[in-house]
Amino acid sequence: MTVFRGTVLDTPDDPFAGGTLRAEEDAGLVERGGTIVARGPFALVRTAYPDDEVVDLRGGLVLPGLVDTHVHFPQVRVIGALGMPLLEWLESCALPEEARLADHRYALGVTRDLVGGLVRAGTTTALVFGSHFAAAVDALFAEADRVGLRVTSGLVVSDRALRPDLLTTPQRAHDEGLELARRWHGVRRSRYAVTPRFSLSCSAELLASCAVLQESVPGSWFTSHLNESVQEVDTVRRLFVDADHYLHTYAGHGLVGARSVLAHNVHPTTEELVLLAAAGASVAHCPSSNSALGSGLFPLRDHLEHGVHVALGSDVAAGTGFCLLKEGLQAYFVQQLLGERGSPLTAAHLLHLATAAGAEALGLADRVGQLSVGHELDLVWLRPEPGSTLDVALAHARSSEDALAKTFALGSSADVAGTWVAGRQLAAAVPLRA
Ligand code: GUN
Ligand code: ZN
Repeated sequence: MTVFRGTVLDTPDDPFAGGTLRAEEDAGLVERGGTIVARGPFALVRTAYPDDEVVDLRGGLVLPGLVDTHVHFPQVRVIGALGMPLLEWLESCALPEEARLADHRYALGVTRDLVGGLVRAGTTTALVFGSHFAAAVDALFAEADRVGLRVTSGLVVSDRALRPDLLTTPQRAHDEGLELARRWHGVRRSRYAVTPRFSLSCSAELLASCAVLQESVPGSWFTSHLNESVQEVDTVRRLFVDADHYLHTYAGHGLVGARSVLAHNVHPTTEELVLLAAAGASVAHCPSSNSALGSGLFPLRDHLEHGVHVALGSDVAAGTGFCLLKEGLQAYFVQQLLGERGSPLTAAHLLHLATAAGAEALGLADRVGQLSVGHELDLVWLRPEPGSTLDVALAHARSSEDALAKTFALGSSADVAGTWVAGRQLAAAVPLRA
């Protein structure tokens, strides 16, 4: 057994449902076989476990491992292309880079950049939008598995509107997806997600083949994009004249349920919000991406009022980095900018969105997202460099909530001193240089 010691903050009681931040100044978390088996004030815990090894995480804060519910594997090297709306950015920036993953050596390098970037950001669980190339997705699963990250991912499929080298057919999409799922779904921490890119690039036949694949892989997830930009929504409406709305293009094939995560939903109709809530589906809110592409201001209040579950995503590479602290801060900004139509957020809300809400969206709430007895010990240790502005701010924090707000305001991947999954510290991958 191992005792982890530090200032531990988490949100086992949902702040969106009246809960508050749980903060323990000098806590002890006792870990055995990857799971937290006891927790309490360190002094008391130490009395009960006097001889066990202590991992001393004092100085800074210990948070549950962060959960990123939307991040694109093949885009890590093109973060930061500014000044374009979604469809132009896809065409001129994202898709040319995604095509490079046909070269397997290139793809291997990108798997390391992606997994290393997530670990360095304190992300322990991620729903990763894969690649259009099956061999690249296989390599991603292998790298995540080697490092120990919890990853749900899958082959991205499209059969129209993209450059020809990224297109597939319904049959091939199904067969390659099934083979990847056979290799990785349910293997240690990996799970398969059926992943049509977005309806704009998928025929009804391809979406139907996705539904067949999902049926064939029990417990698999579904992820795609939804209502991201006005231009995209208009195009989808023109392509699917018989659909009631964008969500219907997926729901009509039975793809929207409790194991579905739809990214963005910046421009939903009321009907879609009702349908998402009834299905128990989740929305991955990606505020940096929405601002960078000028997609719009996310209507969080409408989602909450309709009972739609919302978590956070970095949406790298439209999003500007892996750090979910930044996404939390950006989510806060967006709600401030919405004024009376916004949903005011506290630091506890931001932590919840970045941890427990993501765990719930991915069906892992009983395992990760909080540091309670019975949960696996997934945590991030934030310890700012002495003298850094975050270090100064934390030293002058008036309360735990204040310290957390300062962490969201000032924190970054540079403040991540270590990332643990199931009690084991992850070693970030070293980038491969050609
Ligand atoms: N819609 C379809 N593909 C993408 C993508 O790669 N990024 C974003 N933000 N939206 C998309
Ligand atoms: Zn995306």
